[in-house]
Amino acid sequence: MAGVTLIGVQKRFGKTVVIKDLDLEVKEHEFMVLVGPSGCGKTTVLRMIAGLEEVSAGTITIGDRVVNDLPPKDRDIAMVFQSYALYPHMTVRQNLEFGLKIRRAPRAEIERLVNHAAQLLGIDHLLERKPRELSGGQRQRVAVGRAIVRQPAVFLFDEPLSNLDAKQRVQMRAEIAKLQQRLQTTTIYVTHDQVEAMTMGQRVAVFKDGDLKQVGTPMELYDRPATVFVAGFIGTPPMNFVAASITDGGATLATPTFNLPVPATLRAVTNTHLGRRVVVGVRPENILDANREGRGETAAIEVEVEIAEPLGSEVIVHGRVGDDLLVAKLNPHHHPTPGETVKLLIELESLHLFDAETERRLDGAPQDRSPAAVFSGNSAV
Ligand SMILES: Nc1ncnc2c1ncn2[C@@H]1O[C@H](COP(=O)(O)OP(=O)(O)OP(=O)(O)O)[C@@H](O)[C@H]1O
Ligand SMILES: [Mg+2]
Repeated sequence: MAGVTLIGVQKRFGKTVVIKDLDLEVKEHEFMVLVGPSGCGKTTVLRMIAGLEEVSAGTITIGDRVVNDLPPKDRDIAMVFQSYALYPHMTVRQNLEFGLKIRRAPRAEIERLVNHAAQLLGIDHLLERKPRELSGGQRQRVAVGRAIVRQPAVFLFDEPLSNLDAKQRVQMRAEIAKLQQRLQTTTIYVTHDQVEAMTMGQRVAVFKDGDLKQVGTPMELYDRPATVFVAGFIGTPPMNFVAASITDGGATLATPTFNLPVPATLRAVTNTHLGRRVVVGVRPENILDANREGRGETAAIEVEVEIAEPLGSEVIVHGRVGDDLLVAKLNPHHHPTPGETVKLLIELESLHLFDAETERRLDGAPQDRSPAAVFSGNSAV
C-alpha cells in the first residue's frame, strides 16, 4: 500500500491548460475524493496518476517511486471507470480472473482471490453469468471486484456510480466506502456529486477550472469553506449569499434592505475589516422558524414566501427579503403558504464572511502555496 503525491503537476492539451499547478497529497490508506463541476479536470488528474495521460510538468509519486515515466501496468494501481468495461463474452468469473491470468498468478491463488472478492461484494452466486445477464448494480460490483482481486497499492475510481439509479447509487456508495475501510487500500475517487463526495471521502479536494480550491475533511469544508465557490458547492440546498458592508465600527453587516448585528464570535474579523464590502453566507439550515429557539445569537428577518417544498423531514422555503432571494430549511411542522410573510431567525454565529472582491473567506488561512501548507489538512490554495 502507498500514498500518492502530486507536486507542481500541470497538464496542457496543445495550448489549452487543463490542470494549472497541482499540489496534492493522498496519504497511505486514505479515501480521497476529487470533486468539482463538469470539465474542471478531475478525470485528467486521475488519468495522469494512472499513467493513461502524460504530465506536462511536475512529479507524481506513488509510494516512494516517482512514476512519471512508468507505464500504467507498472504503477500498482487499479482503475474503475464509469463504463464498467467488462468483457461481454466472458463470464463474471472469467472477467474477475482475467487480470490475474495475464500476470500469470498461480491457479490456486487466482481462485482464492476471486472467491474472496466475490464474497465481499455479494456476487458469488453470479460467477457463471455473462455481463448481459446482470443488472447495472451487479455489473458495477463486478467492475469493482476486478479492481479488488488485483490487490493494488491504490484504487482509482472515476464516477463509478453514474450509470446506476438513485437508490442503487446510495447503496453502492455505502458499500464502496465500507469496502475501503475494510481493505484500507489508498483510494482516489472522482465524482461531480458533492453529496457523494461528502459522504464517502475522508478528505475531499474541490476543483474548479483546473485549480484545486480547497482540500479538507467534509466537515472542514462545510464549516470553513475558504472561498465563495467552495461555500456554494458544498451543502444542499446551497448556501445563501447576500452583499453587505461592515459598518458601525464592526458591529453591523448592512445590506441594502436589512441589517444584521455581528455576533461576538465574529467581531475580531469585522473589527479588522471596517468598511469592507463583503459577501455574507448563510446556510439554509441556519435559518430557523421564529417559534424555535436558535443556537446562540440570532437576528429576525421578514421573508416573503415564494414557494415551500415539503420533504417530510423538513420543508425547504424559497423566499424574498427585499431584492435578495433566500432559501431556508425549516422544521416540517411549519408550513408557510406562498405570498405569506414569515418571521425567520438567522443564526448569527453560523455566518460566513467573504471578501466581495477576492471571494476569499475573511478569517481564512493566509495564502500559502508551499506543499507543507497544502498538505496540512484544511488549507486554502
Ligand atoms: N484529449 C483532450 N484534448 C483536449 N482537451 C481535453 C482532452 N481531454 C480533456 N480535455 C479538456 O480538459 C478539461 C478537463 O476534462 P476532464 O475530463 O478532466 O474533466 P472532468 O472534471 O472529469 O469533467 P466531467 O465531470 O464532465 O467528467 C475539459 O475542458 C476537457 O474538454
Ligand atoms: Mg470526468
